[in-house]
Amino acid sequence: MNKIYEKIERCCKYIRKKTDFVPEIAIVLGSGLGDYAESANVKIELTIPYSDISGFPVSTVSGHRGQFVFGTVNGVKTVIMQGRVHFYEGYDITDVVLPVRLMGMLGAKVLFLTNAAGGINENFQCGDFMLITDQISSLVKSPLIGENIDKLGVRFPDMSEIYDRDLADIIRKSAKEININLKEGVYIQTTGPQFESPAEIRAFKAIGADAVGMSTACEAIAAKHMGMNICGISCITNMAAGISKSPISHIEVSETADRVADDFKRLLTEAIENISDYLNTKQ
Ligand code: HPA
Repeated sequence: MNKIYEKIERCCKYIRKKTDFVPEIAIVLGSGLGDYAESANVKIELTIPYSDISGFPVSTVSGHRGQFVFGTVNGVKTVIMQGRVHFYEGYDITDVVLPVRLMGMLGAKVLFLTNAAGGINENFQCGDFMLITDQISSLVKSPLIGENIDKLGVRFPDMSEIYDRDLADIIRKSAKEININLKEGVYIQTTGPQFESPAEIRAFKAIGADAVGMSTACEAIAAKHMGMNICGISCITNMAAGISKSPISHIEVSETADRVADDFKRLLTEAIENISDYLNTKQ
């Protein structure tokens, strides 16, 4: 049996010993959203620290907590990842996407990805939200390299609609309903951990990227491979190198993410409710 699959199954079994909770929606919380699970709309049923799960990757970045939260968001059954691991932390790319695959294996049909990103599109402003409509992952090792896990998906999965169009429409509508200005665009993932050079940003702009970050695209590939329906929003925490006149720092990223976190949370809650309604009518 495939070693990577065996590891996901082991983690899954561990969780199944603790709970039979089947989530409708899986959420990955990016910078600034870390305490979303503690907000009033979320009723927590169970938390499982990543460090309790044998073999599970644990984040080493400050400001990134590490646990699964099982609960309901205004009644919608969700599993929330409070903190993720990044490729730059030194984990194998298959470990980086293990949590997302695990949430799919627990039954989540929808994966809602969030992150902090640098704005490349000059129509964006620091603090904006960007609906992710597509992505460029070619700079990062594919999580699907190696023996294909046939139990999850096919060897050569189609990526022509990674981010589900219906879910994107629901997020657009949700933002309108609560008066949040939502930009949209293409997300490019780098390995990090260094921020980009201005020349890199000019190159990324030329190939069609609107925002840059160090997570998400690999997670979306793994989730798409196993047939999950994906949506995502970036918080533009800074303008990218060369567009911003000042040096980029993790402090700036965190400060902006924190400043707009309340709106990000409102948008997330509204979108989750509307996505759940949509899933229920589709059944
Ligand atoms: N580059 C890469 N990742 C990021 C950035 C950035 O400018 N801002 C937040 N995450």
